[in-house]
Amino acid sequence: MAERWTPESWRKKPALQMPDYPDKQALAEVERQLATFPPLVFAGEARNLKKALGRVAKGEAFLLQGGDCAESFAEHGANNIRDFFRVFLQMAVVLTYAAASPVVKVGRIAGQFAKPRTAPTEKKNGVELPIYRGDIVNGTEFTVEARTPDPRRQLQAYRQSAATLNLLRAFAYGGYANLASVQQWMLTAIKDSPQARRYQELAERISEALNFMQACGLDLESHPELRTTEFYTSHEALLLGYEQALTREDSTQPGNWYATSGHMVWIGDRTRQLDHAHVEFCRGIKNPLGLKTGPSQKPDELLRLIDILNPENEPGRLTLICRVGADKAADLLPPLIRAVKKEGRFVVWSSDPMHGNTITSTTGYKTRPFDLILKETRTFFQVCAAEGVHAGGVHLEMTGQNVTECTGGVREISDVDLNDRYHTVCDPRLNAEQAIDLAFLLADLLKQERAAKAQPLSVAAGL
Ligand code: PEP
Ligand code: CO
Repeated sequence: MAERWTPESWRKKPALQMPDYPDKQALAEVERQLATFPPLVFAGEARNLKKALGRVAKGEAFLLQGGDCAESFAEHGANNIRDFFRVFLQMAVVLTYAAASPVVKVGRIAGQFAKPRTAPTEKKNGVELPIYRGDIVNGTEFTVEARTPDPRRQLQAYRQSAATLNLLRAFAYGGYANLASVQQWMLTAIKDSPQARRYQELAERISEALNFMQACGLDLESHPELRTTEFYTSHEALLLGYEQALTREDSTQPGNWYATSGHMVWIGDRTRQLDHAHVEFCRGIKNPLGLKTGPSQKPDELLRLIDILNPENEPGRLTLICRVGADKAADLLPPLIRAVKKEGRFVVWSSDPMHGNTITSTTGYKTRPFDLILKETRTFFQVCAAEGVHAGGVHLEMTGQNVTECTGGVREISDVDLNDRYHTVCDPRLNAEQAIDLAFLLADLLKQERAAKAQPLSVAAGL
């Protein structure tokens, strides 16, 4: 029998990847303050997302999740958020139109600040300092001041998340996401690329369809589905003190607690130990959860995690985000999928084709070859088809900016080009062009999935 869960029961468990704050009093004061701040999201919104993900689990929709590896204080600005939102909308439109699949849109945004790291410290010229753990914890600069974990940064992260969310809500509901603007979402950064032409053609067809519907007498303005979009936020629930401070009991459903720092939170590949703090915290909140699943995940351990995180087998509660690497996916995914399917567990199968494909370029940058990202995505779809489960979603690190962080793509970004616009403070992201390119591939893969599913029906009907 599991012990009773409370928002702080994680504190009795071992917790990996948490910063060591030298000023414990300041930390307690910050957490006390955060606990008095307004929630960033509402329980009802998290429930709506869970319902939408439930449809993904049943094969009726597709999850598009993506954003920065780590949001940064320095890059916080309206243009950045707008450009991200635009490219995200473009991808969603490609998937919705080209693959005729409803898309559940979840950003890695408005709270994606804390980062798990491989080593606790970093050494340069004989000096050893704490590793950078994301702007919510410390600064990137290699100085004692910047690298010392400072709890006050949590207040800034909260405020930045609130401001980001405010703008996202305005974009989603205030007219920007109106499907009639589908042509205007094109980013100037990609205007002259082949992706842009492909997108433009698709946007024109959508506009024609809308004009046709209008000519038939349909009042498009009276359909909120066309004027607005549902957009949700997510981040890794890594910094548990922060998460706890923002965890609130739902006033409409007493006894149900929600992390109000974002709609969906996930457990990282490095902090998914069964008896540790991150799993303990997440099991008690009612939000939809993600669980990163890397190469070391064993099927029996995965089933035990599912027992803990989704004991009621609620569709939409749990998204398994597989990130095993392009070359291992064909071997590692089938045993996991089979085990989960055999036990009749409802999950969303999602692919993170980023984190298993990180390499160091010959020029010394942490990068990801676009070809490997495409390969893991394709393999994921193939394996899901072979195992008879819905390839439910993708989880991407991407930006609306024209960065050079992942090699390859139509511009054939080389190791040398990485130096041009390498802006990430953490992992390399797809740029806008690469993201749209991937969306078209996903649309093709989803169409294939649908065609394969339709086949047995026509065979049964003797067609
Ligand atoms: C991430 O999503 O940025 C991350 C650190 O992923 P993972 O836990 O899969 O390594
Ligand atoms: Co990352």
